Amino acid sequence: MASITVRNLDETVKQALRLRAARHDRSMEEEARLLLADGVGEPDQRPMAAGGSNLPKPVGGADPDHAYPARGKRILLIIGGGIAAYKCLDLIRRLRERGVSVRPVLTRAGGEFVTPLSLGALAADRVFTDLFDREDEHDVGHIRLSREADLIVVAPATADFLAKMAGGHADDLASTVVLASDKPILVAPAMNPKMWQHPATVRNYATLESDGVHFIGPEAGEMAESDEAGTGRMAEPMAIVERIGVLLDTGPKPLAGRIAIVTSGPTHEPIDPVRYIANRSSGKQGHAIAAALARAGAQVKLISGPVNIADPAGVEVIHVETARQMHEAALGALPADIAVMVAAVADWRTDGAADEKIKKTASERTPRLALVENPDILAAVGHHERRPCLVVGFAAETEKIDKHGRGKLERKNADWIVANDVSPETGVMGGDANTIRLIRRDGIEAWPTLSKQAVAERLTERVVDYFAENTAHA
Ligand SMILES: Cc1cc2nc3c(=O)[nH]c(=O)nc-3n(C[C@H](O)[C@H](O)[C@H](O)COP(=O)(O)O)c2cc1C
Repeated sequence: MASITVRNLDETVKQALRLRAARHDRSMEEEARLLLADGVGEPDQRPMAAGGSNLPKPVGGADPDHAYPARGKRILLIIGGGIAAYKCLDLIRRLRERGVSVRPVLTRAGGEFVTPLSLGALAADRVFTDLFDREDEHDVGHIRLSREADLIVVAPATADFLAKMAGGHADDLASTVVLASDKPILVAPAMNPKMWQHPATVRNYATLESDGVHFIGPEAGEMAESDEAGTGRMAEPMAIVERIGVLLDTGPKPLAGRIAIVTSGPTHEPIDPVRYIANRSSGKQGHAIAAALARAGAQVKLISGPVNIADPAGVEVIHVETARQMHEAALGALPADIAVMVAAVADWRTDGAADEKIKKTASERTPRLALVENPDILAAVGHHERRPCLVVGFAAETEKIDKHGRGKLERKNADWIVANDVSPETGVMGGDANTIRLIRRDGIEAWPTLSKQAVAERLTERVVDYFAENTAHA
């Protein structure tokens, strides 16, 4: 589901949502999401009640990502005392949906922001808070907690908690568990931008990085607690979920040693400093392919046009805006073994964007836009002297899919064309599913309608098979 920007809602709606969310101990975004799901008749995806088993199984029957690499793993989640603690409720839910068990450890300050009751209900496990707990410490529980996890995640990590970690403190359960651990640690800092930039925090961050601690975020944006903006927002739960997947991925790596270039999203072609020509591509399919190739061990360079989705974890991302920038980045990323050109590149740009905003004046006639052709990125890669051994293009068609796909394969010197029907009634553009026809020189494979993620996995399997069969290309 697309993300919900609560900030843009009407003030009265926002107030009602705030009260509802507080009553249910959920974030406003989560509350809005569940309300919408009810409204459109989605199956109930509310969290399991407290006391349920913490066995890794999908929450409420939802299983959004069956190939999630951390499925079946155990996470010890330390929740520090920051406003962003509310996001950890969504994080727990998303992880459990993917078959990951989560054991929450709440710091004393963290307990001021979220309750053990809601954490326990979502995690379906006890929430640990106290170092000197008589029940747990008869068998040195803090050591057991740190050893039983596959990964420790600190989210949100406050400035104070980073300082404790960097200084090796062990004066409460959370910091003692971290110090006693021999497991990888992922930290998601969240704090006011001034705290993040403070020389003490900068020092602590550098120390922890050199100690091998993994970081995600913080992101730039508005702060929840004030009108301030800057770097300090905690990474979004789904970005943390993806990163956890990468850190705990022990699956086979058949594409190890291969370099892949993937393009994704639309391009924006400026008309003037504020207007541009664009298309409806969301980047979901290209990003999913980049992530799937990375999971299979490829070193992936993702060249992304402007999209509203997070960068996939474990992938190098080059952000561009126009077709010409994407063309330059794609050729600059060569040599590579695989190129998958998924981006919906604008065929035309304006013949010279205006330097100033074009004004609407009563006296002047409506401006005419003259268009010129953009470079053809797929053809440029397909005919390049350093052409990758496997070049895959995407063809978004609304009619005669096979015929147009085959024509494209020949003209652009591609090996495969992934053709999809993007007629408005299919909902492919911006949607979550795709119906593919994989056009090769020796035949056409028709795939059933699959989620974009499943398309990415299937295409990656075909890429793996290709390199297994064509060892001469190795
Ligand atoms: C309303 C409020 C919001 C706070 N938000 C943050 C925050 O986002 N990040 C942070 O580093 N500290 C924040 N603090 C300060 C921490 O709560 C404080 O440093 C606390 O000791 C951190 O405890 P911890 O180490 O258990 O996380 C906040 C304090 C208050 C009162």
